[in-house]
Amino acid sequence: MSQSWSPTSWKSFPAAQQPTYPDPEALAHVLKQIHLMPPLVTSWEVDHLHQGIADAQRGEAWILQGGDCAETFDQCQTEPIASKLKLLLQMSLAIVFGSRKRILRVGRMAGQYAKPRSSDTETQNGVTLPCYRGDLVNQFEFTPEARRANPELLLRGYERSALTLNFVRALSEGGFADLHYPENWNLLFVDEAKGDVARRYRELVKSLGDAIRFVETILRESTSELKRVDFFTSHEALHLDYETALTRKSVRGIGYYNLGTHLPWIGERTRSLTGAHIEYFRGIRNPVAVKIGPTMQAEEVVELTRILNPNNIPGRLTLIHRMGRGRVEAALPAMIEAIQRENRTVLWVCDPMHGNTVSTTHGRKTRRFDDIVDELRLSFAIHRACGSMLGGAHLELTGENVTECVGGSRGLTESDLESAYQTQLDPRLNYEQALEIAFEISSQLSAQRS
Ligand code: PEP
Ligand code: CO
Repeated sequence: MSQSWSPTSWKSFPAAQQPTYPDPEALAHVLKQIHLMPPLVTSWEVDHLHQGIADAQRGEAWILQGGDCAETFDQCQTEPIASKLKLLLQMSLAIVFGSRKRILRVGRMAGQYAKPRSSDTETQNGVTLPCYRGDLVNQFEFTPEARRANPELLLRGYERSALTLNFVRALSEGGFADLHYPENWNLLFVDEAKGDVARRYRELVKSLGDAIRFVETILRESTSELKRVDFFTSHEALHLDYETALTRKSVRGIGYYNLGTHLPWIGERTRSLTGAHIEYFRGIRNPVAVKIGPTMQAEEVVELTRILNPNNIPGRLTLIHRMGRGRVEAALPAMIEAIQRENRTVLWVCDPMHGNTVSTTHGRKTRRFDDIVDELRLSFAIHRACGSMLGGAHLELTGENVTECVGGSRGLTESDLESAYQTQLDPRLNYEQALEIAFEISSQLSAQRS
């Protein structure tokens, strides 16, 4: 790793998972335009999250990070965005009840448009084309034109990120997020009468309402902190040219920030210690996260923390482990112990989704709800046994009524998946499954208190 860093120093390192553009001049032209456009977030907001993650490391806050595997341009619509926000607000309410900790809500939203793929190409009926790399790069449709990497899509992605963020910000600041009126967060399709999870949630809202009224009666005033929420954005910062165009020098003269999102992360496929992504990430001031899979060696995890956080600054680094239900017990303890032995400061977050992807007999990608819950429970237990602490969860979910993961309180089976399988990439938890996970987290954190 060379010592001097600049927003483009990553260019002298091997960059995995980058698209090849047939017209490099058109790409350069677009990147220049994006570089001149306003940032999507501010460095003050980014610092605020940095502080929040430091609080979570001390056990005073908990991170709930969630959203689609990949956002798509045509889902940049009122309902899908509002539903996701409603679901994350409902989940954080369930978690705060058990944990009594501040919840940091971080969406996989407003920029989660670029995807790593296991192969550069895809073959269908003897025809081979470039793989789909997310709406930021090309289109899903299987034609040569759609699969060509098109730099104009970077502009469309920037714009849709801005539209999404504008809506989410307005909802978080105003009356919508007011805890006095959690009925604003009800999802349209949720049947009032049925479903154990929905019933538990309604009971929780009622007791919360009682608690708020009780406190406000005593204080004789309305508590203004309850009228808005913090909401942060995150995405996998995969497309390094795009991320560089959104990397800006701080007006406060304190270095460079990625102002395309609050919390960029490095994925499992691009976390090579000698690769371009690590080089880019080591120089930005944002809090950063890295996905950690079961094949990583404990020493490599420690080395990663030395490169990305040499001064061991609280809040700077989050490690998101995604081991899989079958491998978490064998792989995670050694990593936690190595980090403790070397006194490295990190926040541990569990992604119980990405190590648990399986194929159905019909060839659909799915995840078993029980595997997801088990990996979460095991992660809580492993951290506790090691004298460490799980500080958050990273989930793929949607507020829509989809059938992509099997199991959950409604007992979705493989044959049910056909009825509303919408994802083009990884299977997401639907509303009920996600809320059920939130109640599980809530009871784990509640048990930790006692
Ligand atoms: C993802 O978060 O969608 C993803 C690709 O995860 P991972 O890098 O952990 O495989
Ligand atoms: Co995914």
